[in-house]
Amino acid sequence: MILNGKVALVTGASRGIGAATAIKLASHGASVAVNYNNSEAKAQNVVETIVKNDGSAISVKANIFDQTESEKMVGQVEKQLGKIDILVLNAGANFKMASFMEQSWEDFENKILREVKGSFWTIKAVLPSMIERKSGSIIIVSSGLSRKPGFGFSSHTTAKSALDGFAKALAFELGPQGIRVNVIAPGLTLTDATSFMQPSQIDAAAGFVPLRRVGLPEDIAGAILFYASDESKYITGNYLPVNGGQIML
Ligand SMILES: NC(=O)c1ccc[n+]([C@@H]2O[C@H](COP(=O)([O-])OP(=O)(O)OC[C@H]3O[C@@H](n4cnc5c(N)ncnc54)[C@H](OP(=O)(O)O)[C@@H]3O)[C@@H](O)[C@H]2O)c1
Repeated sequence: MILNGKVALVTGASRGIGAATAIKLASHGASVAVNYNNSEAKAQNVVETIVKNDGSAISVKANIFDQTESEKMVGQVEKQLGKIDILVLNAGANFKMASFMEQSWEDFENKILREVKGSFWTIKAVLPSMIERKSGSIIIVSSGLSRKPGFGFSSHTTAKSALDGFAKALAFELGPQGIRVNVIAPGLTLTDATSFMQPSQIDAAAGFVPLRRVGLPEDIAGAILFYASDESKYITGNYLPVNGGQIML
C-alpha cells in the first residue's frame, strides 16, 4: 500500500493502459479519478473493479484536449477526492498512419497540437496545489516511437518527442518545488489501439523483443506505479522505456 492517502488522476483511464494504471494505483492505496471522454460505461466498470477490491475511485468525464473541460475535471477531482498528488497523462491523440508524403499538414498539426494540449491544460490546473504542498509526481505516457521511429509514424514520433522535451523542461523548472516529472515510453502493448493487428503480426513483433512477448497494459502500469510512489523519489526528468528490451537506450 505504498500510495496510501494519495490522490491520483489518470487521463484516458476507461480502457487500455490507463484503465490498468488506475486499477494498479488504487490497489496500492491511492484514491483514483478515472478520466474518460466517450466510454462512460467502461470507465464505470474500472471504478466498480476498484471499489469491489476495497479501493476508492470516481469517474470523471472530460475531453483533455479542451482547456475548459480539463480545468473543470481537476476542480471536480479536488472537490470529490482532495488535492491531486499523482497525475498520469495517459490519453494520447489518435493519428493517421501513413508515409510522410501522404501526410497533410492539417493531420500532422492536429496530432501534435492535441498531444501537447492533452498534457498542458491538465498540468496547469494541478500545479497550484502541488506547488503549495511542494510535492507531486507527474507521469507522461509517451511512446518508444519517440526515440526509435517506425515507418508511417512520423506525426506520432514528432508529437511524442514534443512531450518528452516538455517533460524535461518541466522537471527542470519544477524540481526545486518538490515536483517530479517523468516519462514512460511503452513499446507495442495489447490494447484497443493495437487491436487492428493480426495475431501473426503480433507474434512476429514479439520475435524482435528480447523477452519474447509484446506488452500488456499491466506491464506499463507497474512502471507507472514506480514513478508515482516515493520508491522513485530521487528520479525526475527521466525517460523509461517499457518494452521487454526491444529498445535499449
Ligand atoms: N498501445 C500501444 O501499443 C502503445 C504504445 C506506445 C504508447 N502508447 C500510448 O499509451 C497511451 C494509452 O494508449 P492505449 O493503447 O491504452 O489507448 P486505448 O486503449 O486506445 O485507450 C485510449 C484511452 O484514451 C482515452 N481518450 C482518448 N481521447 C481522449 C480525450 N480527448 N480525453 C480524454 N480521454 C481520451 C479513451 O477514452 P474514451 O474511450 O472514453 O474516449 C481511452 O480511455 C497513449 O498515450 C498511447 O500513445 C500506446
